[in-house]
Amino acid sequence: YGASMEKIVSLCKRRGFVYPSSEIYGGLSATWDYGPLGSELKNNIQKLWWNEMTRKHDNIVGLDAAIMMHPRTWEASGHVENFSDPLVDCKQCKTRFREDKLEPEVLKSRICPECGGELTEARQFNLMFSTQMGPVADSGSIIYLRPETAQGIFVNFKNVVDTSRVTIPFGIAQVGKAFRNEITTKNFIFRTCEFEQMEMQFFVKPGDEDEWFEYWKKTRMAYYDKMGINSAKLRFHQHGEGELAHYAKDAYDIEYEYPFGWEELEGIHSRTDFDLGRHSEYCGKEINYLDPQTNERYIPYVIETSAGLTRSVLIALMDAYHEENLGTDSKGNEDVRTVLHFHPNVAPVTVAVLPLVKKDGLAELAKDIQDELRDDFTTFYDKSGAIGRRYRRQDEIGTPFCITVDYESKDNNDVTLRFRDSMEQIRVPRAELSERIRKEIKN
Ligand code: GAP
Repeated sequence: YGASMEKIVSLCKRRGFVYPSSEIYGGLSATWDYGPLGSELKNNIQKLWWNEMTRKHDNIVGLDAAIMMHPRTWEASGHVENFSDPLVDCKQCKTRFREDKLEPEVLKSRICPECGGELTEARQFNLMFSTQMGPVADSGSIIYLRPETAQGIFVNFKNVVDTSRVTIPFGIAQVGKAFRNEITTKNFIFRTCEFEQMEMQFFVKPGDEDEWFEYWKKTRMAYYDKMGINSAKLRFHQHGEGELAHYAKDAYDIEYEYPFGWEELEGIHSRTDFDLGRHSEYCGKEINYLDPQTNERYIPYVIETSAGLTRSVLIALMDAYHEENLGTDSKGNEDVRTVLHFHPNVAPVTVAVLPLVKKDGLAELAKDIQDELRDDFTTFYDKSGAIGRRYRRQDEIGTPFCITVDYESKDNNDVTLRFRDSMEQIRVPRAELSERIRKEIKN
């Protein structure tokens, strides 16, 4: 059986992946905290993305820009003017809806689907969170929490060109928080007001953008295989005329089949020279590129790949979740194993080390083996409970390898290596453990 949203939410809470934010005060709508396992999973996905984008490409460099930016940034980017949703309110029950998410009959009748009351006309509602900087609260002190990380890259374009010897075509990659005052915030961590993005802006010569757009569509789709995501659950969706963002010439979403249907996971956008051109205009300084070979000066075009990190955590969980029927146990009960088949690249724990019993020096030996593996892998030590139950606990959090230390280990210097997916167990000499696990991860 696969994942339902209820099962994922429950497992996340029970095993420490994701908790409702400020839960002791009753929680805050659409905000979530990442627990011990959730933060490891999120860090691993971030690391995988970062390595795939920066380490594997000579021409992509990193950046970590501030969340708070000069307010002119958001005038130049078009977000002050355009980044809004059309909202309607119910005059009776006061529920607020995004007009574009309402059913056609509701739009026609203007009758509230919740209580039958009358709906108001639509009003544009800007999605940016604003706050004040400095001691005087006037209109001049308003700043915004960034609604996308991308603008931190555009405003630093010249800094990076001047300081890092990159030449076009090249990219700048960044991971960080973004904030949107979203109204439709159901579906767990799918859409939240505070979230994380992994974005890369790739700067190209005007005219070369279509070729690079194709390259990045292909490369980004292939990445999800490295994350271990089932390719049958991924597809492209091209934006139609009405869907295109204010900056885009062409755009494709990589969509995932969630339990609530096909929805966006990542956007790949052909942004032309819109952003750099607008920042040039608004800051009054030329932002362009001098081709060192041809001495030609131009404003580069941009291909953007924009993935949600927190949304990637959700698909990693949903894609990995399985309940497997293993027949009946010794008491005649149905034996169902809950397992997260995470790719070892992203699993929160890579290796669990389990002494068969605590006594007779097995606990000490197991600790010793764990210490040997610590530098190479994220390890976990669990010494209590029946060994079968300990294996199941690791299956449920997606640990791909368990090492069991038993009496034979003391005599022969070898251990049992158990594989999560096949549940197969083999004997491996202690000296070969690290190398063997590394090989398994690469396969
Ligand atoms: N710079 C382009 C940009 O921000 P987007 O399509 O608005 O494009 C890109 O967002 C990705 O960011 C989405 O595909 C999604 O994964 C993630 N994202 C956007 N809004 C989100 C939200 N409210 N909660 C969680 N993730 C979100």
